[in-house]
Amino acid sequence: MPIHPHRPGRARSALLATVLAATTVLAAGVAVGRPGPAAAATGLKTLAAAHGRDVGFALAVDRLGESAYRTVADNEFNLVVAENVMKWHSVEPVQGQFRWTDSDQVADYAATTDKKLYGHTLLWHQALPDWVGTLPADQLRAAMRHHITTVVTRYRGRVAAWDVVNEAFSDNGDGSRRGDSVFQRKLGDGYVADALTTARAADPDVALCLNDYGIEGRGAKSNALYDLVKSLKASGVPLDCVGFQAHLVLGQVPGDLQTNLQRFADLGVDVRITELDVRMPLPADATRLAQQAADYRRVWQACLAVTRCRGVTTWGLTDRYSWIPEFFPGQGAALMFDENYAPKPAYRAVAEALGATTPPGTPGPTPPTGCTVDYLPNSWNTGFTAEVRVRNDAATAVSGWTVGFALTAGQRVTNGWNATVTQTGTQVTARNAGWNATIPAGGTVGFGFQGTHGGTNPSPGAFTLNGVTCRNG
Ligand code: XIL
Repeated sequence: MPIHPHRPGRARSALLATVLAATTVLAAGVAVGRPGPAAAATGLKTLAAAHGRDVGFALAVDRLGESAYRTVADNEFNLVVAENVMKWHSVEPVQGQFRWTDSDQVADYAATTDKKLYGHTLLWHQALPDWVGTLPADQLRAAMRHHITTVVTRYRGRVAAWDVVNEAFSDNGDGSRRGDSVFQRKLGDGYVADALTTARAADPDVALCLNDYGIEGRGAKSNALYDLVKSLKASGVPLDCVGFQAHLVLGQVPGDLQTNLQRFADLGVDVRITELDVRMPLPADATRLAQQAADYRRVWQACLAVTRCRGVTTWGLTDRYSWIPEFFPGQGAALMFDENYAPKPAYRAVAEALGATTPPGTPGPTPPTGCTVDYLPNSWNTGFTAEVRVRNDAATAVSGWTVGFALTAGQRVTNGWNATVTQTGTQVTARNAGWNATIPAGGTVGFGFQGTHGGTNPSPGAFTLNGVTCRNG
């Protein structure tokens, strides 16, 4: 659903209004073929900074000349990472000959726009020039150390954190080390500690991270990384952070994302979502975009709930240039801004997760003649989230809505989204936000909430919409 900030009678907080207006002005400018005026200096970065969090994006440096790209980048993010140009093949294509043109552009961009610069990546089994693969072990070790030392030294004082080793573990997810890494094959498990120690020697202050994918929830791979982090810390190897890439499939945010981030944080490292995108089958439609919004919201909520989670970075800025369609044919629309730079529902979900509150709407309730409710809980230990989708089956629109239902004694709502959710005893009431007060005839509205439970998490038996009992979907 596109965002319509200029519709009359839709109250929302001043901050969210500014955020949305800024980005929509931009989108409108793009649509008529000229770049939008520079939006106000607000956006997600302002909201994230209020939580002490970074909201980052992977910069495709060759797109910086596009003013629409540049405007969104400037206004929305407070952290930037090079999508490709700090990888080995870009900075050291020929042994011993370093090429800084593109990587410096990213560093300069970060400096001039006052963004944190995140370094990606010193060692990876991909994006390596051929010569690296031909070296015997002792020369490979020397080349690895030289590469790390040279790159880290160049950006000393400018890069806040480096992905020192990217994707050390196998794609098969069983927790084994990656067999298709030349470093792993020729140098053995110890190359990770060697790389970290080398990086620390080149910059005593930069944060040193391990980064991987498929580790967002607990499983063999994340357990293996957990064990590695634990043992590196125990043996005094410098390690400050773990990056969770989070290239996610629509509707598949792991239910234990938050607790998994927390267990790593409890080892004494910072954690961060480093490459978030949520891919869907193309074409995108309203249902998928709504699910994606819920997914983005969950990721941010998980990060905000973990004190040592430093922020969330998306892998790209606009669906126009995302890596997804090329690497996952038939999939795409994975980011918060669409191909025309318009903010998607995921954008609004993130803004709301970051506290851009939406006050209850003013229109008076009208009685519906029928409704259907889908209740989608997602439970872990003693916590849960639930998405509630309410369809208006009546022939006329509902203008202003209140949804009621009962939880059990052990269940408590802690916060809600897309509605004001309050609880009195076991009775829960959800009132519309300003921008979703109307449910068109046949239309659906979704809201959700987070809560705690005492060990069991039963779903409510019945829901009412403006006092009328709905069917369960
Ligand atoms: C991807 C880039 O987005 C593409 O442009 C490039 O062709 C291949 O690499 N995990 C990572 C990133 O750590 O570096 C990858 O970036 C995406 C997967």
